[in-house]
Amino acid sequence: MSLTEHDKWKQFWDEQAKVTDLHQAVRGDKVFSDEVQSFHDRQLLALLDPQPEDDVLDAGCGVGDQILLVGPHVKRVTAIDFSPVMVERCRERIGSILDNVSVEVADVTSLPFPDNSFDRAVSIAVLQYLNPEEVEAAISEIKRVLKPGGACVFHIKDMASPTGLMITFGRFLRALTKGRPPLEYQYRTYRWYKKKMNRYGKITGSYAYGMWTPFMPTRLISSIASLEVKCRRHTNLFPLGKEYYIKIGFNG
Ligand SMILES: C[S@@+](CC[C@H](N)C(=O)[O-])C[C@H]1O[C@@H](n2cnc3c(N)ncnc32)[C@H](O)[C@@H]1O
Repeated sequence: MSLTEHDKWKQFWDEQAKVTDLHQAVRGDKVFSDEVQSFHDRQLLALLDPQPEDDVLDAGCGVGDQILLVGPHVKRVTAIDFSPVMVERCRERIGSILDNVSVEVADVTSLPFPDNSFDRAVSIAVLQYLNPEEVEAAISEIKRVLKPGGACVFHIKDMASPTGLMITFGRFLRALTKGRPPLEYQYRTYRWYKKKMNRYGKITGSYAYGMWTPFMPTRLISSIASLEVKCRRHTNLFPLGKEYYIKIGFNG
């Protein structure tokens, strides 16, 4: 029986989970300095606005970066990931640090929780690995398990950004010369995601970052990311980013 794309991604993440460096396991080559990463983290926290009494869902938790960020501010975090190896790695990492967290093997397109279970949710760097039907299923499932008035912060990549367009062009050239790689995450526009999300809720906030290209050396990417962080301290007008955190409010 041939494997679906979904199965291939699961195998991919099972293998990635074995990579020794935690950051590389979920994000490939490290490009952020700690300062840049912590600035982005603060933006994510500000958007999510976690409250001490909140039950939070982390959908697609990887090795638990968002659990560590959100866990100390809330009552409980329930994290899921469809890769059993990733879940094991995450449990090992989080177990000795936080005691209000459970990590389970589950698929974001079919969540094993009753309706109205959570106050807030995060799903970071996950939607690009799903096909359009799965994206829709994931948003619908997250809405179902959130209480009325709940909200989720998603991370997406915007193909319509200058960087996104360069990446798409780079992919096109590579496909011409070397053929398509067996697995490639989906590059879509902010507009595409917005349309999908507007069917279920309302976008109530967003944060853009990541104006680097695949052709830049890591050191240059880090410098640009630092510049981006500095600009963002003074203004929200930084339209060149290709990565977004988008907050969706669901009203039952
Ligand atoms: C790029 S990593 C991001 C992990 C984490 N959210 C972070 O930002 O560090 C993507 C994660 O999503 C998980 N994932 C992908 N598709 C999924 C699905 N359908 N259901 C649950 N998890 C999924 C992968 O196993 C992987 O751990």
